[in-house]
Amino acid sequence: MQTGRRRELVPTAARFAAMGSRPDPGYPDTVLRGVTATRYVTPLREGGSLPGVMEADDCGVYVVKFRGAGQGRAVLVNEVVAGELGRRLGLPVPELVVVDVDPVLGRAEPDEEVQDLLRASGGANLGMDFLPGSIGFDPQVHPVEPRLASRVLWFDALVGNVDRTWRNPNLLLWHRELQLIDHGATLTFAHDWPRATAAAEKPYDGSGHILAAAATARDEADADLAPRVTPELVREVLDLVPGQWLTGEPGFDDAAGVRDAYASHLLRRVQARERWRP
Ligand SMILES: Nc1ncnc2c1ncn2[C@@H]1O[C@H](COP(=O)(O)OP(=O)(O)O)[C@@H](O)[C@H]1O
Ligand SMILES: [Mg+2]
Repeated sequence: MQTGRRRELVPTAARFAAMGSRPDPGYPDTVLRGVTATRYVTPLREGGSLPGVMEADDCGVYVVKFRGAGQGRAVLVNEVVAGELGRRLGLPVPELVVVDVDPVLGRAEPDEEVQDLLRASGGANLGMDFLPGSIGFDPQVHPVEPRLASRVLWFDALVGNVDRTWRNPNLLLWHRELQLIDHGATLTFAHDWPRATAAAEKPYDGSGHILAAAATARDEADADLAPRVTPELVREVLDLVPGQWLTGEPGFDDAAGVRDAYASHLLRRVQARERWRP
């Protein structure tokens, strides 16, 4: 049972879902829900990519990753592919949206770095539902069930996530529950397509993974999750990526070609899981 107080803290995207109303997507149904940014609130300086907290026209608040950041749009694609895949495997990932940003919103920012970033990011960027009151996860203080820990580890191994370490957990605790954020450092094969085939079998080094010790139900996680990564599921996830983040990729004719390449890589990797399982 949720208390009244707790209900108030549910982020806007979840409230819209509960109300059954969808704000104007602005993009075709096949891609993520779309919102338009209305205000730049503050930069988040923990990581390197300088995401910003922004308000949007659906009254939601989002952590926005900008297309114009140094790592480029491939990181946004990987955030969508990994995050939406994780969600479909039953892992808690806050909602992802496409945020339309007008660089004018950065004009009043005192920080020139922020201004430059927004100037380079007009149009579609990636937003994650901001979780108010969330805190950084610390496994020494917050125990995680072996089943959940093992699933997170399996998923991170599948997508090759190097950013779920003690130094950089990218896990939040929100309403006492674990939430997975920041999937920018996954699917790195997409930065080097010519070598992607070999990367499908690349072993995953889970030794520094923040949930490694708690992940004692690894066989169970593998048996449960691997059969769920089907061609249909992978296709569904890839269809969520805005086409404009995929067009013009060197070595590909069009966005569909890039989607196909991601899909076949992911399916090959599931097939080869005896080689990479932690
Ligand atoms: N959805 C969210 N709700 C609340 N805080 C968040 C959310 N996403 C990120 N943060 C905070 O912002 C920080 C940076 O975000 P992150 O996605 O990890 O970007 P980076 O690529 O810079 O590491 C996180 O460590 C976390 O403290
Ligand atoms: Mg991070």
